[in-house]
Amino acid sequence: MWGILRRRSSSGFSPSSTAEEVTAGIDGSGLVAVVTGASNGIGAETCRVLAMRGVQVVMAVRNPSAGARVRDEILKQAPAAKIEILHLDLSSMSSVRRFAESFVALNLPLNILINNAGVAFVPFKLSEDGIELHFATNHLGHFLLTDLLIEKMKVTAMESGIEGRVVIVASESYRFPYREGIRFDKINDESGYNKFLAYTQSKLANILHSNLLSSHLKEQDAKVTVNSLHPGAVATNILHHWGFLYGAFFAIAKFFVKGVEQGAATVCYLALHPQVAGVTGKYFVDCNITELKSPALDMELAKRLWDFSLNLIR
Ligand SMILES: NC(=O)c1ccc[n+]([C@@H]2O[C@H](COP(=O)([O-])OP(=O)(O)OC[C@H]3O[C@@H](n4cnc5c(N)ncnc54)[C@H](OP(=O)(O)O)[C@@H]3O)[C@@H](O)[C@H]2O)c1
Repeated sequence: MWGILRRRSSSGFSPSSTAEEVTAGIDGSGLVAVVTGASNGIGAETCRVLAMRGVQVVMAVRNPSAGARVRDEILKQAPAAKIEILHLDLSSMSSVRRFAESFVALNLPLNILINNAGVAFVPFKLSEDGIELHFATNHLGHFLLTDLLIEKMKVTAMESGIEGRVVIVASESYRFPYREGIRFDKINDESGYNKFLAYTQSKLANILHSNLLSSHLKEQDAKVTVNSLHPGAVATNILHHWGFLYGAFFAIAKFFVKGVEQGAATVCYLALHPQVAGVTGKYFVDCNITELKSPALDMELAKRLWDFSLNLIR
């Protein structure tokens, strides 16, 4: 099936390219990356491939024993891999703050931040901070994490002369959010809640965050780029809470969707590939810049989201 999709593209990569293929020959030694959602799916594969390329990987996981299993698998393949595991629950602002403190205590530089973790289509629930779970986990936790780590990234880039990269895993579903785009006035309301729209709203927020952070960093002349991406439809555990339905869906879908090897390709490409040096504020699909559609281009909406998010984290 992937053979059919090996279409030509400006990057030279296609939907069937794997993370190993898009990073072949790249030496990432000396770089340090934080990867959220590293215990599973796209995040775990991203850690494996970055570690194979010599990057020191800090796995940010909410389940340390699942993280340890991924780390042990990677070490079997790459015994020299440098991997740390730190606890992070993105749905909890105090956990995000503790993670940032633990990271600073490691006394490492930070070249690459990969905001990958996510939940999808979960029934209505508020986080411990009283925020709707998709928005809290997928957007706000990453917004706070980035806010806490960005200074470290700027300093690392300045001192090392190596460009820093923030990579934000969004989704093409950003195009179908609530009618208002972001439901600022009803973000935590159960009435009118729709688990599909709550997910797409959070993915739209990922892209708006990426676009505005990129333009802030450009204004500051910081040597840190920010790009967002859609990984494709990938066979992962993201719908596991659907129980039997997930099992049935997965049994069929696995023949038509990407494996994690392909799902992590655009993430690893944006993290390491020299083709994207200096490229910032863009959205990528299958390792190629892809035009964003409304409402992701709305910079007023992005500014409103930024101020709204700042208010929530302070
Ligand atoms: N799969 C697709 O088809 C697809 C399509 C478009 C976009 N995406 C995006 O790709 C990203 C990765 O998803 P995936 O498909 O790889 O799903 P996955 O296999 O379910 O992985 C999601 C990861 O996020 C972690 N996570 C969830 N809630 C968290 C929290 N509160 N704090 C910290 N970590 C948390 C999970 O940890 P646990 O192991 O503890 O659950 C897991 O490691 C997501 O942002 C998703 O929106 C996926």
